[in-house]
Amino acid sequence: MSELNTEAISVQFQGLRALDSVDLSLKEGEILGLLGPNGAGKTTLVNVISGFQRPTEGTVRVDGKSVGGLTPDALARCGVARTFQSVRLFRRLSVLENVEISALCHAKSRNEARSTARRALEFVGLGPVARRLAGELPYADERRVGIARALALRPRFLLLDEPAAGMTDSECRDLVEIVRQLPQSFGCAVLLIEHNIGLVMEVCNRLHVLNGGRTLADGPVETVRNNPDVIAAYLGGA
Ligand SMILES: Nc1ncnc2c1ncn2[C@@H]1O[C@H](COP(=O)(O)OP(=O)(O)O)[C@@H](O)[C@H]1O
Ligand SMILES: [Mg+2]
Repeated sequence: MSELNTEAISVQFQGLRALDSVDLSLKEGEILGLLGPNGAGKTTLVNVISGFQRPTEGTVRVDGKSVGGLTPDALARCGVARTFQSVRLFRRLSVLENVEISALCHAKSRNEARSTARRALEFVGLGPVARRLAGELPYADERRVGIARALALRPRFLLLDEPAAGMTDSECRDLVEIVRQLPQSFGCAVLLIEHNIGLVMEVCNRLHVLNGGRTLADGPVETVRNNPDVIAAYLGGA
């Protein structure tokens, strides 16, 4: 079975220990929710896994093999792709071109890149606007392009950093349906960072909770939601 693991990952930013010995696993076919209050270290962990941040200590493994020190594009070729909290599109290129650029990473030809990009766009519901300029899209659609762009890398492990941030309730709900179908439709495991606990519980198979850079809990949704430490630190009002 395909698996991504972090082993004892720590990240030190001068005086701040943003991550402290975090072990996380993401297994084929699953949707893992990564939770924690603001500043808990969620984005830093995604940055480490995707090669944007070098850990101070620890190792990231894909199928048991260390991928530490690889660049983001080398990691993408190993099957690891991510989205960003803020989407930056090439506003004067078409929606399709924006996605095609990432598809070129794997594709053997321009045509292959285009068809990969089309499939990703159709999957996120943006097939009909593929020819429009990216700069003309409404906000929620921009965020979907961000997901399509990551999917065009044909990842086995997809890391989504707050994909629903700033969306309306109904836009969130549509997004959840997209996320739910990812393992089956694209064969990728998903790590989902999302603040809306209701949505997370609905779509995730397992939860990993960070607090102050440390793992507070990791397990099936039902177990974690009833964990007193998690309730105290994070779920309090939910
Ligand atoms: N590049 C950086 N330099 C210094 N401190 C950082 C940097 N990136 C993040 N941090 C700090 O690390 C902690 C974890 O941040 P982050 O991973 O963004 O948390 P989260 O995504 O859970 O909100 C925060 O205290 C944040 O201010
Ligand atoms: Mg973050």
